[in-house]
Amino acid sequence: MTHSTSPAVTNPAPALSQDALKTLVGQAALKYVVPGELVGVGTGSTVNKFIDALATIKDQIKGAVSSSVASTERLKALGIAVFDANEVSSLSVYIDGADEIDGNGYMVKGGGAALTREKIVAALSKQFVCIADESKLVPHLGTFPLPVEVIPMAAKRVIAQFVAMGGTGTVRLKDGQPLVTDNGQWIVDVSGLTISEPLAFEAEVSQWPGVVTVGVFAYQRAQVCLLGTATGVKTLTF
Ligand code: 5RP
Repeated sequence: MTHSTSPAVTNPAPALSQDALKTLVGQAALKYVVPGELVGVGTGSTVNKFIDALATIKDQIKGAVSSSVASTERLKALGIAVFDANEVSSLSVYIDGADEIDGNGYMVKGGGAALTREKIVAALSKQFVCIADESKLVPHLGTFPLPVEVIPMAAKRVIAQFVAMGGTGTVRLKDGQPLVTDNGQWIVDVSGLTISEPLAFEAEVSQWPGVVTVGVFAYQRAQVCLLGTATGVKTLTF
């Protein structure tokens, strides 16, 4: 009887799921939290992982300034004190996700409709640490539909202005009705634009009548991005 010798087969480590990558970066963000201080907290499924991790060190922080009703509810449910943005003059760090981030730390945000409060808390913070899985890293902003929070009566005119720029826009719906943000406004999602100059784009669109907040975060860009990759958490600095 002969025995054939086949080469040893090593099973590659299974790829981490997107959810597992979010957990990894959420936990990695803890090292940017300053003991004894307040931390700025964003919104979204990746930030939810950060909030869960934050709960494990809640006794070491004063509390959080939150960017949405959803994050506030999660923070409070886990016993983390939530402070109003008007109670603070500055924060050491803001931790949030992104829909897209480029090689300069410029981001598109607002997939969770929380962009206005996110930009306010980011503006209060000395450092923006973005947490994201590697699918969010892009060469140029513009693939993910750009969220823009608008006063409802301005929606049609704002969409027409984006059409004049070469894009298309639609009012975001929930259960067949316009989605109403935490601020009582609507979201217009814009497709078909390549945002090659994020600073100029943000400055221009922010001036349009009825625009509350545009989801380009260039003035409030990230200084650090913790990117969940197949080989672990990669730290990008900008
Ligand atoms: C919410 C946001 C989120 O940070 C962004 O949509 C990313 O969310 P997720 O972590 O769920 O992918 O801007 O308004």
